[in-house]
Formats: sequence, C-alpha cells, structure tokens
Amino acid sequence: MSSILPPAEKIWWKQPVDSVEMIWIGFALTWCLIMFFAMPLWHVYGEQNYSGEAYNVLPDQYQARVEQMVQAHTVRHESDQQIPVVRPPAGSDVYLLARLWQWYPILELQKGQTYRLHLSSLDWQHGFSLQPLNVNVQVLPGYDMVLTVTPTESGEFGLVCNEYCGIMHHTMLSKLYVVD
Ligand code: CUA
Repeated sequence: MSSILPPAEKIWWKQPVDSVEMIWIGFALTWCLIMFFAMPLWHVYGEQNYSGEAYNVLPDQYQARVEQMVQAHTVRHESDQQIPVVRPPAGSDVYLLARLWQWYPILELQKGQTYRLHLSSLDWQHGFSLQPLNVNVQVLPGYDMVLTVTPTESGEFGLVCNEYCGIMHHTMLSKLYVVD
C-alpha cells in the first residue's frame, strides 16, 4: 500500500485493524495514560509546584514597599553598585525586587526564623533561583509572589536569574545571607 496513491479499498475504516497495529495502539494509549496521571502525581508527590500565595501589585507600589524596608533596615552596602544589605526583623514581610539586570536589595535573614518573602519584577520576567538549594520561582511584573521561608542553614547563598531577560541576563547575580 502507498500513502501517495488513493486507497484501493475505498471504505478502509471498515477493514479489521492489523494485530501489529493494535499492539502499537495499545502501547501508545498506555503510555498516554501513564503520562497523563503522572501530572497529578507529580503535583502531589513531586513537590515541584509553587505552594505560596500570589497577589496583584503595580510595579510602583511594589517598589515603594521595597524602599520602605530598605530605608528602615539597611545594615551596610555591598558590591561595586553599593547594593544595600537589609536585615529585616525576624518574622516580618521581606521584599526582593528583580529588574534589568539586578536583584535588589541583598537580604540577610536569621536562621530558624520564619519570613514572608515577597518577589516581584519592575519590568519583565525574571527567575528566582537560590543556589545550591532547589528553589525556583518565576518573578513577574504585576504579581507579588509570597513564599513562607524558614532558613535552616546559615551561610551565603547564591541568587541567579534563571529566566532569559535580555543581553545582560548572565550578570543578574546576587546573594542571600543567613546568619545564626
Ligand atoms: Cu533577569 Cu534573566
């Protein structure tokens, strides 16, 4: 049989399906079902999904909240760009802002304390990726994503942008301190 020529048997859908083809359909269908049910399973057991809260926020509003925290709790400045290092009170709402091509400010949290970590962008999409931990959250303008976090280890953690955001994306690096 050829797929170029018209079928010899016009009413082809009434012919019995070949057993080899049935086996193939069986495999394909089984695999489809496995993949389909893997989605809810992965959601429940994979712990890969965003489990925080999300709110609408205008970039200007968000920036004002960040600035308020920075002015109240800056302890020093770091790096060539003199980024403020902020040590907000334990248990408080802490704000991190993403913009082209910078994280602002640098947060210094206390081990064992719980914070509400807010993430938003002033321009377009960035990605919050905390290294070497497996924390990944999309950071979008207009959305205030809130993660409830309790650092269990002290040290210096790397913060990278893992959503391509333009020509200087690779320089969008920062850190997060956790102190005892
Ligand atoms: Cu911001 Cu990539």
